[in-house]
Amino acid sequence: MLPLWVSVVAASALAAPAPGAGGQRRGAIQAWPDAPNVLLVVSDSFDGRLTFYPGSQVVKLPFINFMKAHGTSFLNAYTNSPICCPSRAAMWSGLFTHLTESWNNFKGLDPNYTTWMDVMEKHGYRTQKFGKLDYTSGHHSISNRVEAWTRDVAFLLRQEGRPMVNLAPKKTKVRVMEVDWKNTDRAVNWLRKEASNSTQPFVLYLGLNLPHPYPSPSSGENFGSSTFHTSRYWLKKVSYDAIKIPKWSPLSEMHPVDYYSSYTKNCTGKFTEKEIKNIRAFYYAMCAETDAMLGEIILALRQLGLLQKTIVIYTSDHGELAMEHRQFYKMSMYEASSHVPLLIMGPGIQANLQVSSVVSLVDIYPTMLDIAGIPLPQNLSGYSLLPSSSEMFKNEQKFKNLHPPWILSEFHGCNVNASTYMLRTNQWKYIAYSDGASVLPQLFDLSSDPDELTNIAAKFPEVTSSLDQKLRSIINYPKVSASVHQYNKEQFIKWKQSIGQNYSNVIANLRWHQDWLKKPKKYENAIDQWLKSHSDAKTI
Ligand SMILES: *[C@@H]1O[C@H](CO)[C@@H](O)[C@H](O)[C@H]1NC(C)=O
Ligand SMILES: *[C@@H]1O[C@H](CO)[C@@H](O)[C@H](O)[C@H]1NC(C)=O
Ligand SMILES: *[C@@H]1O[C@H](CO)[C@@H](O)[C@H](O)[C@H]1NC(C)=O
Ligand SMILES: *[C@@H]1O[C@H](CO)[C@@H](O)[C@H](O)[C@H]1NC(C)=O
Ligand SMILES: *[C@@H]1O[C@H](CO)[C@@H](O)[C@H](O)[C@H]1NC(C)=O
Ligand SMILES: *[C@@H]1O[C@H](CO)[C@@H](O)[C@H](O)[C@H]1NC(C)=O
Repeated sequence: MLPLWVSVVAASALAAPAPGAGGQRRGAIQAWPDAPNVLLVVSDSFDGRLTFYPGSQVVKLPFINFMKAHGTSFLNAYTNSPICCPSRAAMWSGLFTHLTESWNNFKGLDPNYTTWMDVMEKHGYRTQKFGKLDYTSGHHSISNRVEAWTRDVAFLLRQEGRPMVNLAPKKTKVRVMEVDWKNTDRAVNWLRKEASNSTQPFVLYLGLNLPHPYPSPSSGENFGSSTFHTSRYWLKKVSYDAIKIPKWSPLSEMHPVDYYSSYTKNCTGKFTEKEIKNIRAFYYAMCAETDAMLGEIILALRQLGLLQKTIVIYTSDHGELAMEHRQFYKMSMYEASSHVPLLIMGPGIQANLQVSSVVSLVDIYPTMLDIAGIPLPQNLSGYSLLPSSSEMFKNEQKFKNLHPPWILSEFHGCNVNASTYMLRTNQWKYIAYSDGASVLPQLFDLSSDPDELTNIAAKFPEVTSSLDQKLRSIINYPKVSASVHQYNKEQFIKWKQSIGQNYSNVIANLRWHQDWLKKPKKYENAIDQWLKSHSDAKTI
């Protein structure tokens, strides 16, 4: 059911480079002024598997299907960190999360990093951004960062509102996510006014909030966003009968880190099948609305005669579990959370091509530079996607620096009580935690277990150990975990000092207040214990 049995159409494009290609990293796309325009649309929380399976069986996504027919789809694209800010930091910088120390939604990219858009601007591109950005440090709620810093404290508190659905009162409402539609309109207007008669190539970014769930006002303003909200108009695009109810492991058999996630997301209580199906239906309907925004901007390009001159890329920062594995949101390496859509369409891009090689969001940076004909710097974490999607490269085999057959994803933020590392290669998904010793790793064979219900790490020790070795050759993950521990403590102490006398009051009233206020002394003591403890014993 996963794309793994889809034939490797791209094999020819990924063959070994021809000798004598020299230092020339790129060849076929001509440099400016013939460089194409680029439009990048990035949605939030779109499960990438929907672009191929169950896709149109469960929800109508006409514009994603249009991009598939007219372009190249990457069937195994992943986020480098399954949460907004760190994921976006990796996408904009072209660097893995640990290299930029984008540890959580508060700590993203610092101002001294150069984005691909900065580079394209320097090389003559007109640049413009609309909508959600969220890749730099300093944003998101206090709760969000304090939860991330205190994930090693020995307590278990519900931090999120219970996931729920909410139907817009007006049946025919199309523009449910008004902010996103406004930003889409602004992007379309910009194309009309500023880009259509320009001789300079442009790169336009549109960031959408959808299909990210909405805030849950009934849980109070401190809670996160756990409301799946849509209208009947969008629900009509969903085939209710095709919605699968995900299988859950019994609570007692869950991986301890998954249990922590599920608990802090307030999902360990009882959910009826109907409730789960509804949440999933509303999520899919929100995906349909996202698709329509993508459609609005594609149609504008067509009307303005720009479609033939513009490379359109659609992706998302991460996915949405929508009750798979007894969770909503992301922050997990399971497919629903870590698998992102990645579609490319435009001049020189192969139509109706499906690429099954694993790729990830750090590949956007070199791809952008490649499209613009800009030489790539040496120290990027990603690889250009043009060799596997461009018509020019189909037979030329010019590329030296081909994408390796693995991708790395890591997570260091809230709702997960150990730094997490995923190595995705062939049919395997290997997930290692923390120092590599204190938490059991996970191994899934996606070809036989697409729902990731059976951890086979202990059953296949050779595979596990060779994947672990491979992972360690890419990232010294015990060391990274130790530095995140250190960072979390330092940040927490700094924050505590900054609020002085108000500490007890402020900490009690964060998102976890329902639980905290039952035993405030106990939880404060747990924090004191953690601050006193020598977590550095774990340091490698
Ligand atoms: C940005 O600054 C941080 C420290 O402030 C440093 O660790 C990092 O290497 C710098 N990155 C770049 C690209 O200059
Ligand atoms: C968490 O879920 C329980 C039911 O399982 C509910 O009673 C409680 O109000 C929820 N908490 C929040 C903050 O939504
Ligand atoms: C494009 O045309 C509009 C008027 O239709 C004008 O305001 C704008 O300055 C023009 N832009 C360029 C780059 O020529
Ligand atoms: C994470 O939380 C779970 C649930 O409380 C606990 O069983 C597990 O030991 C914790 N893991 C770590 C590494 O702290
Ligand atoms: C990458 O290399 C470029 C020079 O090629 C340098 O300017 C930049 O700071 C480097 N970035 C990092 C994160 O090392
Ligand atoms: C503590 O809280 C009071 C009242 O809410 C506020 O006026 C004061 O600025 C706060 N102090 C600090 C250090 O945040």
